[in-house]
Amino acid sequence: MEPAPKLTLNNGVHMDQMGFGTYKVPAPDAASLVVDALKTGYRHLDTAALYGNEEGVGEGLRTFTEGTNTVRDEIFLTSKVWNTDQGYDSTLRAFDASMSRLGLDVLDLYLIHWPCPERGLFVETYRAMEELYRGGRIRAIGVSNFQPDHLRTLLDAADVVPAVNQVELHPWLQQRELAALHEELGIRTVAWSPLGRGAVLADPVITSLAADLGVSPAQVILRWQMEQGNVAIPKASSPERMAENLDVFSFELSPAQRDAIAGLDRNQRSGSHPDTVN
Ligand SMILES: NC(=O)c1ccc[n+]([C@@H]2O[C@H](COP(=O)([O-])OP(=O)(O)OC[C@H]3O[C@@H](n4cnc5c(N)ncnc54)[C@H](OP(=O)(O)O)[C@@H]3O)[C@@H](O)[C@H]2O)c1
Repeated sequence: MEPAPKLTLNNGVHMDQMGFGTYKVPAPDAASLVVDALKTGYRHLDTAALYGNEEGVGEGLRTFTEGTNTVRDEIFLTSKVWNTDQGYDSTLRAFDASMSRLGLDVLDLYLIHWPCPERGLFVETYRAMEELYRGGRIRAIGVSNFQPDHLRTLLDAADVVPAVNQVELHPWLQQRELAALHEELGIRTVAWSPLGRGAVLADPVITSLAADLGVSPAQVILRWQMEQGNVAIPKASSPERMAENLDVFSFELSPAQRDAIAGLDRNQRSGSHPDTVN
């Protein structure tokens, strides 16, 4: 399948609009699942130190590039610094540890996984990431789960505007205020749990739109994500679902269908609220 379209980040780096998420992918399965995702056509992978599968993700990436004409530069890889590693020196150490597990020299995107406001360390953490970025070890830096106030605090202190903010976003949690702020600041919105961890697939509005369009509920939601201009990183466990999730570029939602999805917003999270994670 054709890879997803590429979006340009605020520093000129390109990122596929559809990526493959690896949260809860068990370490022993990660390498083969990543090879499946890359064979399907994904060129953007999302992992994190927390997921415990960086070794497998790196192995899958290398196995795929060694066996095909695809080179490392064509695959966009994100990882994240975990909460307990926040702080200047500990972030530098955590980055080195992630890179050694991944078995790579350069990372495409490194994110602060959660702001952890009670720790009060995200500005220092970001300063270490700016250093790594300037040194060429990371092609872009950004944040995850940042609320507007966290972003403003960071921007007051930072030299580099984050390239992305990766946040929970799906039809039940549309994050319109945050997305408008991202637009104003030149930050890309990356949707985690773009399918609401699967729960939104059974929403009757989504299933009815899927029947009307002759596509699956997952395709309706992911098409909506693309039309919103979001990057989405769905996770799936089979090559069939991986392919289904990437195959959303040959149909469109009508304005009435978009309005129907807009009406589903109910501020309902599948994960934690960023102010409560510390
Ligand atoms: N930054 C953060 O704090 C944060 C937090 C959470 C997640 N993330 C990232 O976002 C990624 C995606 O989020 P997520 O894994 O929580 O949720 P998700 O992608 O919204 O949903 C994944 C669930 O949907 C199912 N699914 C996928 N495609 C399907 C399809 N076509 N039909 C039916 N069911 C389908 C999957 O089942 P199977 O696996 O059984 O196929 C899985 O149970 C993660 O993997 C991770 O990379 C980031």
